[in-house]
Amino acid sequence: MSKVNILSLLAKKQSQQKFAVVTCYDASFAKLVENAGIDAILVGDSLGMVLQGHDSTLPVTIADMAYHTACVSRGCNRPLIISDMPFGSYNTTTQCLDNATTLMRAGAQMVKLEGGDWLCESIRQLNHAGIPVCGHLGLTPQSVNVLGGYRIQGRDDNQAQAILKDALALEAAGAALLVLECVPRKLAAEISHALKIPVIGIGAGNETDAQVLVLHDLLGVTEKTARFVRNFAEGSSSIADALGRYNDAVADASFPADEHSFD
Ligand code: KIV
Ligand code: NA
Repeated sequence: MSKVNILSLLAKKQSQQKFAVVTCYDASFAKLVENAGIDAILVGDSLGMVLQGHDSTLPVTIADMAYHTACVSRGCNRPLIISDMPFGSYNTTTQCLDNATTLMRAGAQMVKLEGGDWLCESIRQLNHAGIPVCGHLGLTPQSVNVLGGYRIQGRDDNQAQAILKDALALEAAGAALLVLECVPRKLAAEISHALKIPVIGIGAGNETDAQVLVLHDLLGVTEKTARFVRNFAEGSSSIADALGRYNDAVADASFPADEHSFD
């Protein structure tokens, strides 16, 4: 199977083939993710919680992200590797370019940024520098202290319109992918139809072009998970089997089901 890239993911959206993404932080799991046929790996700053034991993603540094990106990139070849830019690492365009370069040198093939239209200049400059970008809207965990908690976003009309507007702005600035986290499924469907780029949902219903889950959540390692998570270890014979069932369930749209979605 050939290397996944932004064009092959775009082609999947155009032919209405859903694809799965999973977070991953090391070489051993990256190999299992690759063997399961999963198209993309997110080296998420969720590692601050699931690996480091913090109660938010804010303490994660660019050095942490580079370390785990390098570990993942040694373990796999085919999946697209997307790395999160952590809290405070992209406050200015210059800082963003420098830190994104560090992640690309470590093995990332795309970087992910949380936020709306204020990131457009950075996205343009990253593209000029040869660095593709994944946006992230809705519940943006690095802004937990501004949002007042980990809660669903875009439930009222004004908020929903603001998220749609930001999504269009990120795409126009050159974002290649967009993560939508914890938004009502109708809004996620509307944004997925409005954008040409693939939209990856988490807690966003099953009408997005793709899904992402945190590895430890889908393997049943995380003690207390959000309602949008399914434990794929249940009824699986191995970790490899669980990852394969996740990939299949996203592809045939049986995950997420109604009970994993918000209205
Ligand atoms: O860090 C992470 O795991 C993420 C996903 C939940 C989208 O950003
Ligand atoms: Na993240």
